[in-house]
Parts: sequence; structure tokens; C-alpha cells
Amino acid sequence: MEQVREIKQVAENAAREAGAYVAEHLNKLKDISYKGGINNLVTDVDLASEKIIKDMIKSRFPSHSILAEEGGEEPGGGSYKWIIDPLDGTTNFAHGFPVFCVSIGVMLDNEVITGIVYDPTRQELFSAEKGKGAFLNGERISVSGRRLVERSLISTGFAYDVEEKFDNLKSFQTMLKSAQAVRRAGSAAIDLCYVACGRFDGFWELGLNPWDTAAGQLMAAESGGRVSTISGQAYDIFKKDILATNGYIHSEMISLLS
Ligand code: IPD
Ligand code: CA
Ligand code: CA
Repeated sequence: MEQVREIKQVAENAAREAGAYVAEHLNKLKDISYKGGINNLVTDVDLASEKIIKDMIKSRFPSHSILAEEGGEEPGGGSYKWIIDPLDGTTNFAHGFPVFCVSIGVMLDNEVITGIVYDPTRQELFSAEKGKGAFLNGERISVSGRRLVERSLISTGFAYDVEEKFDNLKSFQTMLKSAQAVRRAGSAAIDLCYVACGRFDGFWELGLNPWDTAAGQLMAAESGGRVSTISGQAYDIFKKDILATNGYIHSEMISLLS
């Protein structure tokens, strides 16, 4: 109990500090490199943000394992594992489009027990703890009450992997015809938090990684939403596709996406 409270506090402090660093460097980018393709960027800011977060974790919990987007796996001795996306929305960040965040989830024995997503542009801190709800800047949040896809604002994203990207185009077209509107803002972690607080009624994407969803999927689940794969199977953060909704439109979304 005490340990979880402390973990949550360290995650929050690290997300705020890394987020402030990221925001300070907006529009001042120097180094952009490409991993695996021209549209998959990594900047010096992604790397520095990851270092800030890892240093803070290691100084308090040296035995915990880490899985971070840029540095990969760092096995530790215990049952806790931190899943880090030091900058979710790097393409937006590199263009000065202000939709990006820092995302940190913590697993205990393969289950995400707490998550923090910090959006430094809006100074919005989303937090969730397994079984205890989800919060935005300390206020409890809940999903929307919309019952029909035709009245819903839905979001999605497109993977860097071209095959996955093309696969999602068919679903994108279907959803454009079926929903009130579809958005593609460029940060999966923020998309999931927006489902959690009712700004979006649903979100789906293919080809995601654990660091994109670890914190956000807990946010959506803890705010009363439903999270599964796009075909309705049980979701875990090592699955590549995700569907998160307010619950009411979940089965309608599954049939539209199948
Ligand atoms: C990306 C964002 C984007 C999603 C991509 C992710 P990154 O993460 O979350 O919204 O569509 O699939 O890879 O690379 O900016 O951390
Ligand atoms: Ca990401
Ligand atoms: Ca990232």
C-alpha cells in the first residue's frame, strides 16, 4: 500500500519534470534521427526526457525493472516494472503542434497498477490506480454517456508500419461514415485519456506498443470505460491493437471495425 503510494508519487514527479523539460524545448529542436523509416522520428528531447524519468526511478527504486521506448528493457530484481514513453506524439512535437505528453505506467506481476500521463502544454496530469479510479489534476473523471456511434466523437491513429497503416485505412473510412466525426491528433496516450474524461467517446488503433498504452488504458478502464482488442478480446499492453470506449458504444464499434 505504502509502496504503491510512493511509486505513484515518483511517477507523477518524473512525468512533471520530464514534461516541463519537453515543453521548454518545443520549437528549439536540434537533433532529429530516424528509427526504421522516414516518418518514425526520435529527437534529442525524447532521449533526455527518458533519462530524467529513469534517473528519478533508479534513485528511489534501484531494483525495479524498466521498459522504455528508446532504451528498451532493463531487467531488475523485483516484481515491479516501469513502462515509459518519454514523449508520446514526437512527430507533433517536432513540428510544434502542441499535442504530446509523457506517459508512465507501472506493472506489478504483469498487471498495470498505476499510470500517469502528463500533458505539459495544458498542464493536465491524468492519473489512475487499479481499483481506485482515474483523475485529472486531482478531480475524478468519468467516460461520456453517449449511446450511439453516430453521435460520437471517435479518435484513431496510424502506425509507422505501412502495412498496419493501410489496414487501418479501411476502418478509418468506415468510421468516418458512421461516427459524428473522427480525429487523429497524434498521441495515443492522450487519446486514451480523452476517452477517460469524456472528450472522446471511443478510440481504436492498430500496431501500438506497450509504452503507448500502459498508462492510458488504465485511465480508460478506471474511469468506467471498456478496453479490449478491436475484435473484443481481453486486452493487455503487449497486444498490438486496442479499442477503448465509454462502454455504451463498445459492441457497435467492434462490429464496425470487424
Ligand atoms: C505514436 C503516437 C501516435 C500513434 C503512433 C505512436 P510516438 O507514438 O502515439 O499517436 O499513432 O502509433 O507510435 O512515436 O510519438 O511516441
Ligand atoms: Ca508513443
Ligand atoms: Ca515516444
